[in-house]
Amino acid sequence: MTDVAAPPNELYALVSTLHSKYSLNVTGEVATYIPELGKANPDHFGVSLVATDGRMFEAGECQQLFTIQSISKPFAFGLAVEELGADNVLQRVSVEPSGDAFNSIELQTGSNRPFNPMINTGAITVSALLHASHGSKTFDHLLDRFSAIAGRQLSMDESVYESERRTGHRNRAIAHLLLNFGVVHEDIEAALDVYFRQCSILVTARDLAMMGATLSNMGRNPVTGDSAYSIRHVKDILSIMFTCGMYDYSGQWAYRVGIPAKSGVAGGVLAVINRQLGIGTYSPKLDKYGNSVRGIELCVDLASRLGLHVFDVLNTGSSFLDAVLNPPN
Ligand code: DON
Repeated sequence: MTDVAAPPNELYALVSTLHSKYSLNVTGEVATYIPELGKANPDHFGVSLVATDGRMFEAGECQQLFTIQSISKPFAFGLAVEELGADNVLQRVSVEPSGDAFNSIELQTGSNRPFNPMINTGAITVSALLHASHGSKTFDHLLDRFSAIAGRQLSMDESVYESERRTGHRNRAIAHLLLNFGVVHEDIEAALDVYFRQCSILVTARDLAMMGATLSNMGRNPVTGDSAYSIRHVKDILSIMFTCGMYDYSGQWAYRVGIPAKSGVAGGVLAVINRQLGIGTYSPKLDKYGNSVRGIELCVDLASRLGLHVFDVLNTGSSFLDAVLNPPN
């Protein structure tokens, strides 16, 4: 990856400038399909960057709590591959972009597997796999692991959880479709409860940036030093975030921003610059794909100014290959 061109003080100034610039964008709608999410303050906007050495560059409401929602999906998938092995997990869920909305009721033709773990069919399957191995302790285990990744004790928003549990008929339909095809175990209501709870974990933009920095830092939290994932599985997680993390906007995101990312309907966006940075943004007004409007536009701009895109001309590729191709005389 490219080195950040600006020294730290310039990076801080850039984050501040972009925060002010995109504060002016008031387009989008706060999600209301989970009634409790509709109570979010539409003006809130926080941006946090955490480097792999723990330095932070922030602007706006970085300490405002909101629910993690779908940003829980890559982290839960990571736990599943870490604990059950990638082969086992991939027997149940594929890694293909679906090109459809996050809550589409569809499975792959033939295999009847969900397309990928970043959409609801796949994420509910992952929650069910974890539930099959941890039973009634699954959510506590997940919360513990997420807390280690974030580097602080996280908690759950009871009201959002209740709100989604009460109104999550579509997810319940998905869960029963998965049961019908034998993708998940019988106790699907309990697994679905884990999914609703994991979506209701409270985080801040800073937490997201720190969780991203843990991925970026080869699976180790940059501040606490706690190890969450092995290097091999960090690659698994980031690959699926890159191809599927932004739902039916994933192709456009790869084109415009070109880094692994994941969004959630409460307004969070998490992005990862491999081996350098975690980025977390929070702004609850969403576009038609369910992605935060300000979060997307700020990331597009940041990526362009810092040359973050994986195919940016400034990215000179593998230093190992470079050493092999151009050995010192
Ligand atoms: O499954 C749901 O409806 C939510 N709990 C999570 C959805 C979500 O965040 C999708 N995001 N863009």
